[in-house]
Amino acid sequence: MNAALSSTQSPATVIEASHISTRFGAAVVHDDVNLTIDKGEVFAIAGSNGSGKSVLMREMILLQQPSGGDLRIFGQNIKSMSDAEVSALRRRCGVLFQHGALFSSLNVVENVAVPLREHTNLSKRLIEELSLLKIASTGFPMASVTKYPNELSGGMRRRAALARAMALDPELLFLDEPTSGLDPLSAAGFDELIQQLREWFRLTIVIITHDLDSLWRITDRVAVLGNGKVLGIGTMNELSTSTEPLIHEYFYGPRGRAAKEQAWNRK
Ligand SMILES: Nc1ncnc2c1ncn2[C@@H]1O[C@H](COP(=O)(O)OP(=O)(O)OP(=O)(O)O)[C@@H](O)[C@H]1O
Ligand SMILES: [Mg+2]
Repeated sequence: MNAALSSTQSPATVIEASHISTRFGAAVVHDDVNLTIDKGEVFAIAGSNGSGKSVLMREMILLQQPSGGDLRIFGQNIKSMSDAEVSALRRRCGVLFQHGALFSSLNVVENVAVPLREHTNLSKRLIEELSLLKIASTGFPMASVTKYPNELSGGMRRRAALARAMALDPELLFLDEPTSGLDPLSAAGFDELIQQLREWFRLTIVIITHDLDSLWRITDRVAVLGNGKVLGIGTMNELSTSTEPLIHEYFYGPRGRAAKEQAWNRK
């Protein structure tokens, strides 16, 4: 997958983070983070709990400003964006947040319809049809589209949240820990779905995960955050030979070895 992708994709950069620093009071979360994400990539941000993955994603979707450095999305520096440009950019991005929050008072179709109601003037009927199409594209069971979030399993909730993230046909999709808490089979199914959606909709995907199986299965490149920096960046094969102690531990601890063996067995 990786080789095929790199030979056919245009090299256009979608996100460029240069010298990003982020502080909360005295606490330093990012200290000179640098990375670029190319069009069409499945790019993962990995790292231990609290290493600043979700904060970096919040900066990329303009919910939070870095304390320093430059962040360019689709070639535009976020510092120089007008309100209209920010809102236009948000329309090009779909987001599945870490805890996949759906609106508990709305059923699945109504949840997926929210961005369409907010950002388009389409008729109620068309919005419902589009929502149903998006829900179908995620493999969510169509007999359950009028159920409320508390009536769904974790895997169904994740698919519904993904359908909502896809509602406005984003070019750039952010997924924060999409498979955490899912059993291995459901997680594998969700990974397959992510790959399918990437192909169908020509998406660029930024995924935050520490699920080593997912990292081997679906990513083109991975940045590992730690100590406020990017400890390593590259394909999983490249990272698996890294001598950086934290990365090495990640790959050659017991879980890392098992995931690598499985990845090689699949080839
Ligand atoms: N709004 C905030 N105010 C103060 N500190 C914050 C804020 N948001 C995040 N932090 C801190 O920034 C650090 C990084 O948080 P972040 O949520 O990015 O971690 P993460 O890498 O996503 O971790 P996890 O794997 O647990 O999701 C943490 O120490 C967190 O407490
Ligand atoms: Mg997080």
